[in-house]
Amino acid sequence: MYLSDLTNNELATYLVVRPGEGSVEGALPPILAYGGFWLMVDEAHIATIASHPDWRGCGLGLWLMLALLDRAMARGATVSTLEVRAGNRSARLLYEKLGYQVAGVRYRYYRDGEDGLILTTPPLDGPAMRERMTMVRAAVVEKLMRRFVIASST
Ligand SMILES: CC(C)(COP(=O)(O)OP(=O)(O)OC[C@H]1O[C@@H](n2cnc3c(N)ncnc32)[C@H](O)[C@@H]1OP(=O)(O)O)[C@@H](O)C(=O)NCCC(=O)NCCS
Repeated sequence: MYLSDLTNNELATYLVVRPGEGSVEGALPPILAYGGFWLMVDEAHIATIASHPDWRGCGLGLWLMLALLDRAMARGATVSTLEVRAGNRSARLLYEKLGYQVAGVRYRYYRDGEDGLILTTPPLDGPAMRERMTMVRAAVVEKLMRRFVIASST
């Protein structure tokens, strides 16, 4: 899927989060988080998102989701959808913060029998979503600054 998305699929957009230039001398800085979406007409379907296990809880997941939604809107998306395992608590909380709501259930969707939830946002360019994104952006910037200033001074 990754290979096809990165080489052939014009409807796919992927982003990665790396530390700033020069943080790892002579090497491309490592990827701390990555995610992507498929644009289907006006719907941005989040295909995947993950942050490095060592860097979870620092705000990178939210930061990346905001960046994906920004790109999606720039490409004409008016709504975003995704699928998540019912038991994936951290991912569900992350999506909830961004305004995603449960729109449907795919019972026993995964091979191990777990249900899949279909989540969707309110209209991306509506006032509710805009306000939420502004609030989340401000909070996550503060969190990232706090975390990364602390990390670089220890
Ligand atoms: C889900 C995932 C991408 C979150 O990434 P992250 O970088 O840790 O996310 P953030 O630090 O930005 O956290 C954002 C919010 O998610 C929720 N969250 C993240 N980790 C959590 C945890 N361990 N427990 C509870 N809530 C959590 C919180 O609401 C958090 O906001 P808060 O810290 O202000 O309360 C990450 O846990 C991951 O890569 N998981 C494995 C892959 C995966 O499940 N992807 C989703 C597939 S649908």
